[in-house]
Amino acid sequence: MSLKKIYENQPDKFSFDDNNLKLAVKILEKYPAKNKKSAVMPLLYLAQKQNQNWIPLAAIKYIAKFLSVPYINVYEIATFYTMYNLSPVGKYFVQVCTTSPCLLRGAEKITSICKQKISPKQQELEDGKICSWTEVECLGACVNGPVIQINEDYYEDLDEKNTIKIIDSLLNDKPLKSGSYRNRKSTAPESNRNLNGEKNA
Ligand code: FES
Repeated sequence: MSLKKIYENQPDKFSFDDNNLKLAVKILEKYPAKNKKSAVMPLLYLAQKQNQNWIPLAAIKYIAKFLSVPYINVYEIATFYTMYNLSPVGKYFVQVCTTSPCLLRGAEKITSICKQKISPKQQELEDGKICSWTEVECLGACVNGPVIQINEDYYEDLDEKNTIKIIDSLLNDKPLKSGSYRNRKSTAPESNRNLNGEKNA
């Protein structure tokens, strides 16, 4: 992500709300006092959740103060890991896996739908500012490809038709259910069959 993009649209202030403050204190209790800086990743995650899926620079400063560590220590972690979003991604952030197994199963069609329906460019909010998308490497659910991750949920076994329905549901702020779109249970074979193709009892 470009630095320019990171420095746009920044709020001046950030602090944890009451609920997250309690959670942050609980997280700190898991670490010895001398190692409390190790709590930086869960705290960044809390900040991202509180702030519509992205972490403003003010939150990085706030967490640095909260942990009594230099700002740069938190900044370098927030900018290193791709699961931390440092610019607005919308209420629904669609991450499309484009690694080989998903590509072989049609991930390119899914990125085309995102380009048409959300934005021609990755990491850019659509007009309603509710949704953005990006390509990512393997989401670890290859056997259910093609796969997209929307916020914390996986949508699996997709094709063009159901991807269009899913993206439309996000744009209408009524997200469809997550999981397999071929009615598979986790990674089990379809139609309640076992690995030999026989029907389970
Ligand atoms: S290749 Fe897409 S989830 Fe692994």
